[in-house]
Amino acid sequence: MLERVLSTRRPTQFSEEGDEDDESKTRKNVTFAMRATKQMSKIGFLWPFLLLFLLLLVISVVSHSRNIVCVSSYGTESYSRMSFFGIDGLDSDFGSLGVPWCRSKHGRTVEWTSKDLLQGLEEFVPIYETRPIKNNMYGMGFDHSFGLWFIARWLKPDLMIESGAFKGHSTWVLRQAMPDAQILSLTPRHPEKYLKKGPAYVDPNCTYFAGKDFIDFGSVDWESVMKKYGITDLNRVLVFFDDHQNELKRLKQALKAGFRHLVFEDNYDTGTGDHYSLRQICDQFYIRGGGHSCFADSDEARIRTKRKKFWEKAVDIEELCGPGEAWWGVRGQMRDDFNHSNKAISYAEHFQNSRFVESVLDVYWELPPVAGPSLTHQTRYDPARVQTPLVEDGRFGFFQRLGLTRLETSVFNGYTQMVYLEISQPGS
Ligand SMILES: C[S@@+](CC[C@H](N)C(=O)[O-])C[C@H]1O[C@@H](n2cnc3c(N)ncnc32)[C@H](O)[C@@H]1O
Repeated sequence: MLERVLSTRRPTQFSEEGDEDDESKTRKNVTFAMRATKQMSKIGFLWPFLLLFLLLLVISVVSHSRNIVCVSSYGTESYSRMSFFGIDGLDSDFGSLGVPWCRSKHGRTVEWTSKDLLQGLEEFVPIYETRPIKNNMYGMGFDHSFGLWFIARWLKPDLMIESGAFKGHSTWVLRQAMPDAQILSLTPRHPEKYLKKGPAYVDPNCTYFAGKDFIDFGSVDWESVMKKYGITDLNRVLVFFDDHQNELKRLKQALKAGFRHLVFEDNYDTGTGDHYSLRQICDQFYIRGGGHSCFADSDEARIRTKRKKFWEKAVDIEELCGPGEAWWGVRGQMRDDFNHSNKAISYAEHFQNSRFVESVLDVYWELPPVAGPSLTHQTRYDPARVQTPLVEDGRFGFFQRLGLTRLETSVFNGYTQMVYLEISQPGS
């Protein structure tokens, strides 16, 4: 599904400012060709050597330009991205350091295309600029705010449930997407508490299960809450989790309640993060780009060591595997509740978890980063472990036209593979 949305390259859909003037380029070429023909007739016997020289020159220019220009095919694009940052290694050398993904039951995909996402992006930038909480450290940055807004606006739910509100930025994002929909927000500390110290957002049409009314998502009697809010079709509900709880636990709770549309904000990569994530669960050997080796003298170990120097969140083999050589989750642990509760699990259990997840997934869609690192100047996540960005490296004119240059660099640093899931009972 991801492949359908994300392998659709975009250059033909949006013209960039700063693109070269093709017409003048053609005119220059015609003049050059005419002059070259005249010279050829003058030098007679030398022309076969000149032709050979020109051919060699063209081959050398073409192979060089593939290293520095973003082109459409998957392999060359990754190559150019790595060359850009001076990192050796073709995409094919990456093996298990590719981009893992979760298989869905029937291979279904999302309805939206990359064109829809780019149009949404254009619309969202000015909305984001009006956000009440300008510095949302520990909360969502630009990429995920866009993703949540886009998904909510596309699905048009009657009711949105948010678990983990902090100062209320994500509540504000949901409200921008759906001005009239009901929101239920479950969060231990009421966002109004933050108002005393600085910017926060409290929504007038949101019901807060916060402070003394806080109740964990897994303990809510959802049947009676849905009745109270007049929801008869759970397909019309979107659940957003940004509460740093074990995502397998949350998935099971949501399934039990009958919810179908879920978004997880922090879908952490294997070896990182403070809770067990869908990405970690599905990072298995049988998935292209998935699985890991703890062997110190391996390509993976060498590539990880190199990439850790460039990207803050990249982890080396030592960090990934630890002393027990258990790489799944974080060092073989199924983390929960902001890293406060960690359960060691065997690889067999981890593998079973992936089979369970696959049995309930109708759709798995990771939000791509909005733009490549040479544009956003983000330094945290390794671009080799994420989907192709919506605005690819090298497309500065387009990045600028979208208004993204107006935003501070720090808002692009929080990307952690936000994921949208559509789920249903196993066997359905
Ligand atoms: C990363 S912050 C959320 C950021 C917010 N969504 C935003 O974008 O600004 C995580 C929040 O989860 C809250 N939290 C902690 N345990 C929780 C639980 N069991 N259920 C819901 N929220 C929880 C924390 O108090 C905190 O406000």
